[in-house]
Amino acid sequence: MRGVDDSQADACANNPPSASVSNRGTIRNQPFMRSEELSAQIEEFQPKHGGAGLWWLTQASWFVKFPSCSVVIDPWWRDLFAGDMWAKLIGEFPLTPEEYPAPDYVFCTHWHDDHICPETLPRMAKAFANTKFIIPSRSVDLLISWGIDAERIISSNGHRQQSIGPLSFKAIPAAHMELDFDEDGSSWYVGYVLECDGVSLYHMGDGKPWPGWHTAITKAVNSLSAAEDCKSNEGGKKKELNDEPAQLDIALLCINGNDNLSHIEAVDLISVVKPKVAIPMHYGMDPDNTVDPLIYHKEVSKRLPDFPCTIPQVGRALFFENGVLDIPNDPPIIQEGE
Ligand SMILES: [Fe+2]
Repeated sequence: MRGVDDSQADACANNPPSASVSNRGTIRNQPFMRSEELSAQIEEFQPKHGGAGLWWLTQASWFVKFPSCSVVIDPWWRDLFAGDMWAKLIGEFPLTPEEYPAPDYVFCTHWHDDHICPETLPRMAKAFANTKFIIPSRSVDLLISWGIDAERIISSNGHRQQSIGPLSFKAIPAAHMELDFDEDGSSWYVGYVLECDGVSLYHMGDGKPWPGWHTAITKAVNSLSAAEDCKSNEGGKKKELNDEPAQLDIALLCINGNDNLSHIEAVDLISVVKPKVAIPMHYGMDPDNTVDPLIYHKEVSKRLPDFPCTIPQVGRALFFENGVLDIPNDPPIIQEGE
């Protein structure tokens, strides 16, 4: 077992005196790195083919840097000091919308505030004129109503494989709580399998398991990988049916339960889909809908003792290379689990 940190458990003890306090009196979790320092680290990092840099930016928000493009998934920022309902949040955001390094693509999974945020997306669209937004078809009109140019919006288009620039992707329906589809068969809620520069990544969005879900993920990984092989091997040997199935590299999985995946269901997915690495998310922000990530660690330890268990820290880089996650500046916060 490697890469388990107890920073959440020790959040209060580790917080500097400047840490803010929620309107319920909780000292907020602090990002490992933030603002210009974090933005500069992301800008400077250049992964090699088959590698990627990942930064967790709270809840389901991620910055993912592939060798040939950068992707933000479900960016979320709210003013913790505006005197509104967001004062309840128990973590501080590491980047304002304008502090992100300019992303090539923003993927969003569904219209709930922490995934398609009415504060964050218009500000990112204004700050980054060349960024494109990939969203479920149901939410296209919503983004247009916020002033985002329709030409910059790409609908996730049912569940067919799609490509933009160097990136291929497939939307996987998400059951949040139900599987809901519009008249064209496109899901209201999705996760995405992305494939870029030899790396495959699954961000599940929000949702509960549904029959066929694990298979849908595995099939998407295989079909995207086969398409990538064809692209990079044009005129060469075609992938045969009996070739080894492609393995998902990175899975980003909710663990907070309720109307979302639980830590037990996250480990179920790891057991069946068998990603090379998995990272838990969607906790540590909403005081009414959070868990201690150590429950996920305990579940992995019990059922999959050889699986690498990584608990991320907001604003801290995770570098994926050669099938494993490397955590720079290890070990002051990262330590062996129980
Ligand atoms: Fe959510």
